[in-house]
Amino acid sequence: MEIVVESSISPRLFGLIQLYFVGSTFFSWLLYLASSQFSTHLFAMKFETLTIHLGNGTHESHGAVVQPITLSTTFEHGNEAGMLYSRANNPNRHSLEQVLAAMEKGEDAAAFSSGNAAGTAVYQALAPGSHIVAPDDMYHGLHNSMVQLFAGIHEVTFVDMSDLEAVKNAIRSNTALFWVESPSNPLLKITDIRRISALAKAQGALLACDNTFATPVFQNPIDLGADIVMHSSTKYFGGHSDILGGALVTAKKDAFWEKIRNVQRIGGAVPSPTDCYYLTRSIRTLAYRMKGHASNAKALAEFLVSHGQVEKVYYPGLASHPNHTVAAQQMHGFGGMVSFTVKGGAADADRVLSKLRFFANATSLGGVESLIERRAAVEGPNTTTPENLLRVSVGLEHIDDLIEDMERALG
Ligand SMILES: Cc1ncc(COP(=O)(O)O)c(C=O)c1O
Repeated sequence: MEIVVESSISPRLFGLIQLYFVGSTFFSWLLYLASSQFSTHLFAMKFETLTIHLGNGTHESHGAVVQPITLSTTFEHGNEAGMLYSRANNPNRHSLEQVLAAMEKGEDAAAFSSGNAAGTAVYQALAPGSHIVAPDDMYHGLHNSMVQLFAGIHEVTFVDMSDLEAVKNAIRSNTALFWVESPSNPLLKITDIRRISALAKAQGALLACDNTFATPVFQNPIDLGADIVMHSSTKYFGGHSDILGGALVTAKKDAFWEKIRNVQRIGGAVPSPTDCYYLTRSIRTLAYRMKGHASNAKALAEFLVSHGQVEKVYYPGLASHPNHTVAAQQMHGFGGMVSFTVKGGAADADRVLSKLRFFANATSLGGVESLIERRAAVEGPNTTTPENLLRVSVGLEHIDDLIEDMERALG
């Protein structure tokens, strides 16, 4: 922008004004850099600090402490930030992607309009004829994406990813991707990510990890050898059951990542600036919410273990969990999801559901409110989930209220 100064101003004042504008432009540029992808290298920040500051690009916003929502779908050619058109990029998505990459310790991130769009983008980026090794209890929506959308395009073998021999036996010459979901949905199975990464590297294949349940607060798959981290940001990132979104984070900005970027920008399954704004806002409290979810989940799991009407409890934080040792090695906390089977069958589990006051019988997870559902009823006739299994997303209500409610419902 050109600045015209009236000639009545003295040359000395004119010089000062010039200095001010040059200085403030330089300062804005520094701020831009600080909020750009170089920022993690410029300032070392702890997780809680980076979630609050990195997704908040307040430069060029008239001193606002919080970044405004930029609704414009188009941007003037030649602008400094390199924005062009909102499907390709926009300031709110840019800020969201920066904080996502930093949280997951990756080089770059891409935000999508849902978790399924993010996961599907990985399968879209694979060369046709690729073989995928995936968990036998993976999130059913992404399982459906693989078997329905990519039938005749890719091959897939579903195995118990916690059984290393089964994973080895599933490998084919065209295996290009190992898909891990740990903890898994809804059986809370734990996969040894380091070991699967070693298999993937030996095969020259990619390792992608759905980190939705753990979040980067409790697990950093890139540190454990993953190439791509996937999230349904509808869950803990959003945290209030009011935003749909997905994310991919890459360890390296390589040729495969370029393909994913193309799927995002050309395919166009991107979140709106408003959704990006709300996500960056929610992410600022992620670390604190996760601590609350995990502490409530542990207490609820321990209560359920001791209850006579409960058959089995699935929670990686329990010493009785078959992969508790691996979970303790690769996670910094065990998350907020607990599954359990009620003694009897589906009708007995449904009876418990109907009596609960504070747990809404609804799908999804990761919100501040507790949710519960009989998972087999949601997954449909081909599910392998036990009919009497209830999956709980343990919320941030007071744990005494949650336990009292559950005790009454179990009878
Ligand atoms: C583990 C996991 N991955 C992926 C997804 C898909 O995310 P979205 O519903 O945002 O498309 C879900 C949704 O429940 C999930 O639980």
